Amino acid sequence: MFNRSRGVNKGIILAGGKGTRLYPTTKIVSKLLLPIYDKPAIYYPLSVLMMAGISEILVISTPNQVKQFEELLGDGSDLGISINYEIQNKPEGIAQAFTIGADFVGDERVCLILGDNFFYGQNLQDFLTQAASTEIGATIFAVPVNNPSEFGVVEIDDHGVVLTLQEKPPSPRSSNAVPGLYFYDNSVVEVARNLEKSDRGEYEITDVNLHYLKNNQLSAIKFDPTTIWFDTGTPEALLSASNFVAETQESSKSYIGCIEQIALDNDYIDLEQFQKLIMDMPDIPYKYYLSRRLEKK
Ligand code: TTP
Repeated sequence: MFNRSRGVNKGIILAGGKGTRLYPTTKIVSKLLLPIYDKPAIYYPLSVLMMAGISEILVISTPNQVKQFEELLGDGSDLGISINYEIQNKPEGIAQAFTIGADFVGDERVCLILGDNFFYGQNLQDFLTQAASTEIGATIFAVPVNNPSEFGVVEIDDHGVVLTLQEKPPSPRSSNAVPGLYFYDNSVVEVARNLEKSDRGEYEITDVNLHYLKNNQLSAIKFDPTTIWFDTGTPEALLSASNFVAETQESSKSYIGCIEQIALDNDYIDLEQFQKLIMDMPDIPYKYYLSRRLEKK
């Protein structure tokens, strides 16, 4: 339906918000600096953007927390990418990412990932590549869930064309929830600038998606059953995600959210840079795992 060709180079990680559901843990710490098993939570959305082939990244966070992300990730040059930072003064909605990030986005397409969304699966890379190759319009994802009423819900036809979008509907038209991962063409900046706040006082990402839907420019990619998605915003989900990472890493003998490995696999860094990254690490399993990658090369 849409013209598909080259990929997306810019990605935004939305890492602000209140973190109310994780209080008091989030009283002074961003939920994205909490561990999901063995890594800070932000490693996982960062790794998803890198898997999508994105190497220019903007982290948006609160005035108090943005510095901590900067300390953790720096300018990205260690990983052969660039990481920029912007502040969201108040959590006025997910769609504000595009007005705050307007200069960063420039005249390019952009991917947005909510920092507390966790994705994993053998076919994830293919889904990301497919979304990143859509030049015009917007691409969202569809994940079958048992409790669709608690999410944005998308109804799609057999070709992935979106028929309806509903926000937390009492009677959902499908069981497909919309996770916090979105790909947009450049008009998203203008769409976001023209949004009005919703009744709950936020610039809603669903309103952005509804705009694309109205113009017949919204498609959705349905995740297969092997593709995992968690919103890690509650203590239960954070624990489930940690357990999932621990068990999956143990059984697959492969690390999830391993940004150094992806940087090497994507040729963002060469072997020498990779070796330097490893050298600076303490002697722990993470280092030994990465060292074995070096032997394979
Ligand atoms: P939410 O989980 O909806 O909000 P929250 O993080 O404030 O948590 P809680 O509901 O427990 O208070 O937000 C989803 C993600 O988007 C999360 O990583 C925070 C981020 N976010 C912002 O950075 N700015 C915003 O204005 C909003 C609404 C969310």
